[in-house]
Amino acid sequence: MNFERLRIRLILAFMLVSLVPLASLGYKLISQGETLIEERASSYLNGLSKQNTEAVKAFMLERVNDLTHLSAMICILNPETAKLATLLEQMKDRVPSYLGFFALNRSEKLVFSTRNLSMELLLDQPFDAVKHTWMGASFTDIFTFPLGLEKAGQQKVEQETIPALMICTSILQTSQINCSRLCAVIDFRFVDDLLRKSNIEDTGEVYLVDDTGRFLSASRFGARPLADSIAIDFSDGQAHGLHEIVDYRGEQVLQAYQKVDTFPWYVMADQDVAEIVNRIRNLGREAMVYGMLTALVVFGLALFISTIIVNIVKAKYQYEKELEFQVIQKEKLASLGLLTSGLAHELNTPLANALLYTQIAKEELAESKNEKIHHHLSTVIDEVRRGSKIIRNLLDFSRHSQRDDQATDTNKVVTKLMDITRPHCTAKNISVITALEPEIPFVKADASTFQAILTNLVANAIEAMAKGGVLTVKTRYLQAVQKIKIEVADSGPGIARQEVSKIFDPFFTTKKPGDGTGLGLFISYEMARKLGGDIKVISATKEDAARSGTIFTIELPVA
Ligand SMILES: Nc1ncnc2c1ncn2[C@@H]1O[C@H](COP(=O)(O)OP(=O)(O)OP(=O)(O)O)[C@@H](O)[C@H]1O
Ligand SMILES: [Mg+2]
Repeated sequence: MNFERLRIRLILAFMLVSLVPLASLGYKLISQGETLIEERASSYLNGLSKQNTEAVKAFMLERVNDLTHLSAMICILNPETAKLATLLEQMKDRVPSYLGFFALNRSEKLVFSTRNLSMELLLDQPFDAVKHTWMGASFTDIFTFPLGLEKAGQQKVEQETIPALMICTSILQTSQINCSRLCAVIDFRFVDDLLRKSNIEDTGEVYLVDDTGRFLSASRFGARPLADSIAIDFSDGQAHGLHEIVDYRGEQVLQAYQKVDTFPWYVMADQDVAEIVNRIRNLGREAMVYGMLTALVVFGLALFISTIIVNIVKAKYQYEKELEFQVIQKEKLASLGLLTSGLAHELNTPLANALLYTQIAKEELAESKNEKIHHHLSTVIDEVRRGSKIIRNLLDFSRHSQRDDQATDTNKVVTKLMDITRPHCTAKNISVITALEPEIPFVKADASTFQAILTNLVANAIEAMAKGGVLTVKTRYLQAVQKIKIEVADSGPGIARQEVSKIFDPFFTTKKPGDGTGLGLFISYEMARKLGGDIKVISATKEDAARSGTIFTIELPVA
């Protein structure tokens, strides 16, 4: 099974499932964002033009109010020219948007002016050209006012021209007074300042034009009042609107316009289309970055989840493989067992016969005292014995029924075995110690299997103590795990460290031919495992510890 391919497929599927809806959502949001930016720009420009129209109107209203109040004062003062002059001079100095004041009589002749407005200058101006009336005042169009001439009579300092406007209000007529109108010349650049406050971002600007498109205020990017103009047509009479046009600089702009009531003036608020498009592009770029980040996070998540899934599948797959292997192994062992028992049975008789006849031949030869033939025959006898011992062991193993529903008295079997063994041990100078826990439960095993396991371990222990020693057998009940523990310990030479791992292998033996087959521990271990138990070993040689010896522990479940 290719787990790497599974992982890649899982990642792809996961990314597809999560990124496709995310991408379509992103696309929808971006297009909505674009519309929103456009709408916001339009409504913002509309708002700006409206708001500035109000500002211009407020500016004009303030001037009209000033003039109305001043006209009333003139009546009250019943003009003593000196007082009037002081009053108007003060007003001019206090409010810088006033260039000066003057008064006209009934025949529209100039009868008074503040110091800075000379007759010469005023006579040139179209103050009789009243064009508009608003809030009881009359206005001229905006005209070019030569600032340098202010100081008339002296040498001309500097000829700067500025946009200006005249406002006049009527003076209440009394017998003593020969004035009909009070007028003010207003510096219209103050409207520039007013509008300039609304310039926005990099290219947004607000300015005032008249109904022919001529600039009445200076613009942010250098259009001059009364000199420059934009190509625009207000003939449709619309008081406000929004359009995309090429402006005085040749730039494509989105522009909102709003008429200032009564006056033929329009407040224009615009912004370069390029800047708006840029904003949209930036939105796209931002969306792209966020999209990439999201994709990265999703990828990380997909990698994490797919790794977990693949690991689970892998573990399950390996577990199943293991199970399959064990089943095959069991089947193999079963058929091997069958084969071995058959083979053992078939071989046992000829081997026994061969042994018998070799022994007879050896006895008959004894008389002729042929040493060499004697030695050869002894070897044959040893080998045949060894062969038949192997066969006996295998036969025993295959014959054991190992029914695990049987119960055997632990202490009884141990005691019986030790009783049989004791004389043999005494002969070999081995003292036997048994420490059996009383009232111990039965083991869950048939008597012959349990006895076979125990016999093998005791035989090994005795064989290990060729020069005598101590053989200890203990039994214990491990209540917590419901097991019986039988310990067979000897004070023999111990097992070398490199051999410990091999002693349970079939046919591993350190004994000379004829003495050991190397099947004892293998068979005992297999039997114990089949009963649900285990055999463990602890051993120390002279090199490892002060006292050598080996302890085998059998653990079997209680019945
Ligand atoms: N108590 C022990 N002390 C030292 N070595 C041991 C002990 N028990 C087992 N061994 C070592 O483990 C080897 C394998 O033991 P096992 O019982 O399987 O076979 P064997 O005793 O050699 O032959 P068989 O049991 O057929 O007579 C032994 O040859 C021996 O080297
Ligand atoms: Mg043995």
